[in-house]
Amino acid sequence: MNELLLEYIICPSCLPEELSLNYEITEKQGSDITTGSLLCHSCGSLFPIIDGIAFLDPAGTDEVGSLDKYEQEEVVSSHLWTHYGDLLGEDNCNDAYPLWSKEIHPTSGIGLDLGGSVGRFTFELGEKCDLAVGIDSSVALIRMARELMQSGYITIPLKEEGKIRRMATIHLPRKWLDCEMAFIVGDVQKIPIRKNTASIVSSLNIIDKISAPRQHLLEMNRVSKEKDAQLLVSAPFSWSKAVTKPKEWLGGKQRGPYAGFGLNNIRTLLCTGMNHFSPIWKEEKRSQLWWRIRTHRNHFELIRSRYLKVER
Ligand SMILES: C[S@@+](CC[C@H](N)C(=O)[O-])C[C@H]1O[C@@H](n2cnc3c(N)ncnc32)[C@H](O)[C@@H]1O
Repeated sequence: MNELLLEYIICPSCLPEELSLNYEITEKQGSDITTGSLLCHSCGSLFPIIDGIAFLDPAGTDEVGSLDKYEQEEVVSSHLWTHYGDLLGEDNCNDAYPLWSKEIHPTSGIGLDLGGSVGRFTFELGEKCDLAVGIDSSVALIRMARELMQSGYITIPLKEEGKIRRMATIHLPRKWLDCEMAFIVGDVQKIPIRKNTASIVSSLNIIDKISAPRQHLLEMNRVSKEKDAQLLVSAPFSWSKAVTKPKEWLGGKQRGPYAGFGLNNIRTLLCTGMNHFSPIWKEEKRSQLWWRIRTHRNHFELIRSRYLKVER
């Protein structure tokens, strides 16, 4: 974990109270804390740092034998293709990440990429601010992002058909390796970062994939700076009962709270300062782009991700 993060980290178990964590560094390489721990003296939670990864998800993370679909090899490989297919020169790859990136103005301070997976947009944010932080609940995905950050390249198996794999090597552009970055394991509904910290916050394709989307939005609002902040939220709004109880959906309903489309309701929450969403945000852009996922060489998904960019 990048030691620059130490001053901003708080105990996610004690939220909404923001309590500092006491840290112990056992091993460090440059500014990267490779082994250590973060302890909350109030609730007693201990968050380890192992192989450079800070485990700041209050639910804990059991990597071994995890049934989480994001831990599975094929899913990790698919995420890597989705994020870096353009760097591999792949057919039908994404141009979504550079397009989202164009919406962000360069600024000073910290950028948080929430649910950042294997790190593509976090690297894009690295070019826009002083320190970019990817936060994801999946250890396997964060491990890949860190490996890319450290080596600048990674060789991965891409599924072609059945058990046939094709090896491909992703090389990151030099400019991203010179950026200050960090990747941590955490829950985007309990962000382990102090309020009024981030100059940029992004939430790409995750708000419809968690149990408490409104809480995630409140957390984005809390960690964003009260002034001079940018927030980008994008999703296909594929609400599903399997992941989110319908009463928690921020859209996709005909009546009741949050009736109508999710993006419009998120805009109303952020830009009218309703229900604790203050200071108020100003809409800068509402648009959409095509986001692609590859499962194997004959199976691609084309997804419309609708986004809102706001500032305050
Ligand atoms: C559909 S992917 C989107 C990844 C990336 N933002 C993008 O647009 O390519 C959703 C990501 O959210 C992560 N995730 C799901 N629930 C989460 C949670 N509660 N906290 C943090 N990350 C979570 C998953 O591990 C996965 O990487």
